[in-house]
Amino acid sequence: MAVLVTGGTGFIGSHTVVELIEDGREVVILDNLCNSKECVLDRIEKITGKRPAFRKVDLLDLEGVRAVFREFPQIDSVIHFAGLKAVGESVAKPMLYYHNNITGTLNLCHAMEEAGVKRIVFSSSATVYGKPDSVPIREDFPLRTTNPYGETKLMIERILSDITVAYPDWSVSVLRYFNPIGAHVSGHIGEDPKGIPNNLLPYITKVAGGKLPCLSVYGNDYNTHDGTGVRDYIHVVDLAKAHLCALDRAAKVKGIEHFNIGTGNGYSVLDIVAAYEKATGIKINYKIVDRRPGDIDECYADPAKAKELLGWEAQYGIERMCEDSARWQKQNPDGYGE
Ligand code: WQD
Repeated sequence: MAVLVTGGTGFIGSHTVVELIEDGREVVILDNLCNSKECVLDRIEKITGKRPAFRKVDLLDLEGVRAVFREFPQIDSVIHFAGLKAVGESVAKPMLYYHNNITGTLNLCHAMEEAGVKRIVFSSSATVYGKPDSVPIREDFPLRTTNPYGETKLMIERILSDITVAYPDWSVSVLRYFNPIGAHVSGHIGEDPKGIPNNLLPYITKVAGGKLPCLSVYGNDYNTHDGTGVRDYIHVVDLAKAHLCALDRAAKVKGIEHFNIGTGNGYSVLDIVAAYEKATGIKINYKIVDRRPGDIDECYADPAKAKELLGWEAQYGIERMCEDSARWQKQNPDGYGE
């Protein structure tokens, strides 16, 4: 049997494909390469010795999606990463985000239904909690998004929930990621954002690599131990492994379940800067600037439910996350290149 991985050449997708292959599973990648590169397949093969099947298909092309299920009838489950995910861009281009993320997911679900595939793990985000009333965050906390990107994630969660009501034999596992960082220990795959990184770690790695002059720390007047924003950073390999646990649980349990995938530890921006400097010996230049609109003070998970029901918990600490990020950046100063 095979797992269809939508968005499988992306940052989290590629790391999950590596773990799936190394766990002996057959993988088919569906990706439109709008935010990733086909050479990632070479890197996956370099790490695992196997090259997963790949079809360049856009989820907005329903016939193209159907054709993949017809070509690979052995597909019996899906891990759904494909989607646009830049918060700021989603505010500027809401129609693009709703069309791409929602219609794409509906097409995927249509094709699954027609092919008789009833198991899906969905890539959601802690952003569905918005600004929490307290931390750590549990899965039963209020859901309230603050941007169109987060709203698409919440809408898709609700679509999948309604599908499990209409089709009780479907199994849906929703993984709400906190802040994925790091890279595979080989340094062959990693985070390769287009242009100037929005997220903290890729920005720090560019400063460390001399590609950017200085990190702007967005505010030091938050209600945190050092005034800078606190987040739950999780190693991308830990996150990848959570998907295999979720896939296996979904093989035994019908209906929909939601899991916070984080370490349960909160680190501030300056904690991360210090950890990166300690891990690499490289001084990170930074300056304190105004807050970034929409940012919240603190966000970190209570990962107890994932430990209890998925048998999963994060293994890697912040030092390892920084070491692996630095290795990826050093070995690939221009990411995957042109
Ligand atoms: C982390 C902290 C910033 C950059 C976002 C999305 C979330 C998920 C992960 C998709 C904050 C500070 C950042 C910089 C800084 N993405 N920062 N200077 O905002 O927690 O989450 O990415 O699923 O949905 O919302 O991550 O890495 O952008 O910011 O000071 O140049 O670093 O203020 O405190 P965030 P981030």
